[in-house]
Amino acid sequence: MLKLLLFDVDLLRLNKIRTILSAMSILSEIKIANDEARCVNLIKDEYFDIFILNINSEEFFKKLLVIHPSIEDLPVLLFGVDVDISNFKNCKKINLETVNFKLVNFLSSFSEIIPEDILKTSQQLISEYILIKFSILRKINNTPCDLYIRLGSDKFVKIVNKDEKIHGFLLDKYESKNVEEFYTRKIDFYAHSDSFFSSSLPNVSNTESSGEYYSQSTQIINDIFNEVGISKGVIDLADELIKNSLVESKDPELENLLNKFKFSKDRYIFDHSYLTSVLAVAICEKFEWRNRQNMQKIVFASIFHDFAFVDPKLAYFESGFLNNGELNKEQKDEIFNHPKKIAEMLQKNKNISSEVISILMKHHEAHGENSYPNGISSTGLSILECIFIISHEFANELYRIAFRHDKLLNAIENTLDFANTGNMKQVRKVLIEIFSEKFQLKIETK
Ligand SMILES: [Fe+2]
Ligand SMILES: [Fe+2]
Repeated sequence: MLKLLLFDVDLLRLNKIRTILSAMSILSEIKIANDEARCVNLIKDEYFDIFILNINSEEFFKKLLVIHPSIEDLPVLLFGVDVDISNFKNCKKINLETVNFKLVNFLSSFSEIIPEDILKTSQQLISEYILIKFSILRKINNTPCDLYIRLGSDKFVKIVNKDEKIHGFLLDKYESKNVEEFYTRKIDFYAHSDSFFSSSLPNVSNTESSGEYYSQSTQIINDIFNEVGISKGVIDLADELIKNSLVESKDPELENLLNKFKFSKDRYIFDHSYLTSVLAVAICEKFEWRNRQNMQKIVFASIFHDFAFVDPKLAYFESGFLNNGELNKEQKDEIFNHPKKIAEMLQKNKNISSEVISILMKHHEAHGENSYPNGISSTGLSILECIFIISHEFANELYRIAFRHDKLLNAIENTLDFANTGNMKQVRKVLIEIFSEKFQLKIETK
């Protein structure tokens, strides 16, 4: 955090600059001087890390250097008369005539003198937040975490406290000012994403029955698929194959299990499984070997893959959980064992193919150091297993971007990066084909 001395004889401009800079979180304090005497006194009495100085005579500048010689080494943005700064390490001079005092130019000059390590810390702060669209907030009653608006380049101000009701009129008010999203801390978002996307997707109190709730939330998910270039035909096929999975298993217990997750208040596991299954069908469709049987197998595995979780909330942590300090040993064990548990559960049913069981067992493999339970790499997996793992990764990416349409390209690129090893490469080509319909992907098909 930096303490700034801002000296400008033009009071109006001084206040303008101060207002803008006060939104920058890298500045801990801004002291202002509107005349030379105060500027001299401040430099005599206090320590500053960074300076913006309007210098009107070379003599005055020399005077400041006598009082505080280390200015030569500190970051300084200088404007006013032309003075010699050849001995200065971190000084930038701007000419008011050419800049015509455009604040944008002024601020970009200022950001150039900010020490790099401080800038990095500030960028880290920005990356600690995640954007939540109003369309998502309108579906929930109370916010599960603090909500902020973003002011200036890196300043966030809290608007709604955790657990408070989100009033429609509040969102309307901001929308009328062209604000369409709030922010939340990433750490809170991941801890509460169930509230944003499962139990309250859409607002339960607005739906009359669990069936209606199910169809509405499915609609929201389908919108996202449409946005990435997955056709209605693929979604309908996936829906049909999900229904058939039950017919094929001929097992009333599995039907109960499916309905438990489908109509549960905590919809995360079902939605996440549904997303996985639709993408898997879209990928299978593009392969020459495609047939209904193979697609049925992958859909079956997609829907049931996380149903062994006793605590559904643990499913949020199933990727990269090993280093998660929030989880205790029992929770880590439950995550570690869930692939094996569901594989054993379904293995008893003779109508379920061994390929489905193998996908269930290996659905967290091929994740480098985070592969579990057997640490298998992508070269040791079948094409169906690779399709499952990549579809699952994309489903997780959608949660990571909070279903933001403007971040879809990020989710796609991250999935493509992930699908870049061993047998995954074949699937990568297909993914590029699918996404290229809506996004101009400049990624080589290796
Ligand atoms: Fe899983
Ligand atoms: Fe999963």
